[in-house]
Amino acid sequence: MKDAIIIGTRPEIIKCSPLIKLYEQKRVDFVLIHTNQHYSFNMDEIFFEELQLRKPDYNLNVGSGSHAEQTGKIMVGIEKLLQSEKIGCILVQGDTNTVMGSALAAAKLQVKIGHIEAGLRSFDRSMPEEINRVITDHISDYLFCPTERSRQNALAEGIPHDKIYLVGNTIVDATLRNYEIAKEKATSVLKSMELQDNKYNLLTAHRPANVDDPVRLKQLIDIMQVITTETGNPILFPIHVRTKSRLEATGLLKQVPAQVKLVDPIGYWEFLILEKHASFIFTDSGGVQEEACILRRPCITLRDNTERPETVDVGANAIVGYDIDKIKKAMVDLAAHKFDYVIPFGIGDTSERIFDILHKE
Ligand code: UD1
Ligand code: UDP
Repeated sequence: MKDAIIIGTRPEIIKCSPLIKLYEQKRVDFVLIHTNQHYSFNMDEIFFEELQLRKPDYNLNVGSGSHAEQTGKIMVGIEKLLQSEKIGCILVQGDTNTVMGSALAAAKLQVKIGHIEAGLRSFDRSMPEEINRVITDHISDYLFCPTERSRQNALAEGIPHDKIYLVGNTIVDATLRNYEIAKEKATSVLKSMELQDNKYNLLTAHRPANVDDPVRLKQLIDIMQVITTETGNPILFPIHVRTKSRLEATGLLKQVPAQVKLVDPIGYWEFLILEKHASFIFTDSGGVQEEACILRRPCITLRDNTERPETVDVGANAIVGYDIDKIKKAMVDLAAHKFDYVIPFGIGDTSERIFDILHKE
């Protein structure tokens, strides 16, 4: 029986890449399945190229759709593969529809499930990701929790302790390794984007709660104005595909202030360099909150909650929603903070730990 690593979106490709490499390095046969939930070149293939990942053995070509459509297609596709391939355990990462759909299909066929990044909770069930996290954790056989806090979240929901493993987060493995490569390959990005070290803000936004409602989306544009005025620095905004389509559909694209440099999603190495050299990182992304913390850069999260409170505990992240006063205070506080904490997501050996737990017999 083989393991299957299942990926579907940008962050899953990035965060699973160290584990994929490890299976190859150890010469352990595994099946790589891509649902293709993300499919645009700069949300998908670019990361296979940069990270030199092998072509997936199977591609489900699921693409976009409503939650039910997307999850349903994922379940049908994964079920077929689990019936035709001899797979003993699937590995899924994070909180996307790819994760929950795959886990549901596996659970019904009594195929084991390893959930990487288990136990995270925003305690906000209006987020589709929170529903995906809760369901996946409760049907998983191995919960690979990044922190003690996430382990406690799982325990508090009655998940048996012998299914829970405290291993750190594979994003540390990915960030530390790829930042070193990025320094060699992508430092020219500041020049090509006409940005100066520590004199620009980096912004990403894609949460449905922030970008799907036109009123919230307009507020986000107003916040961009506040940020550029307060800091006196421009914003670089690599726009997520979801956000771009919402800005276009609502006609709000033309209201984005001139001090905001809009670009399409960029490659991972360039993005890591841009995070490291930004004066502030504004985001609603999970992975970007973690990377900012790992790279020791100030992060301001444009949400009312986070499932990554460890980043706040070490003083690297402030949760501000869309509250202008909180944003201003966060900029002052973070500018004064010493980023000399122990990274809360481990030391970069999470993939090894997961591999060892799965292959200990
Ligand atoms: C998904 C995940 C989210 C994760 C994010 C990472 C779910 C419920 N959401 O959100 O948890 O944080 O990925 O980026 O699983 N689109 C394209 N090209 C693509 C993919 C999407 O143009 O390659 C557009 C389509 O208009 C699509 C929209 O983006 O309808 C949203 O895509 P979808 O995969 O549903 O959700 P994301 O917002 O990307
Ligand atoms: N990222 C990237 N290019 C970009 C924006 C983000 O390579 O233009 C990477 C980033 O380094 C991080 C991941 O994408 O590893 C985060 O993905 P996203 O914000 O889409 O998803 P989330 O983490 O919120 O699920």
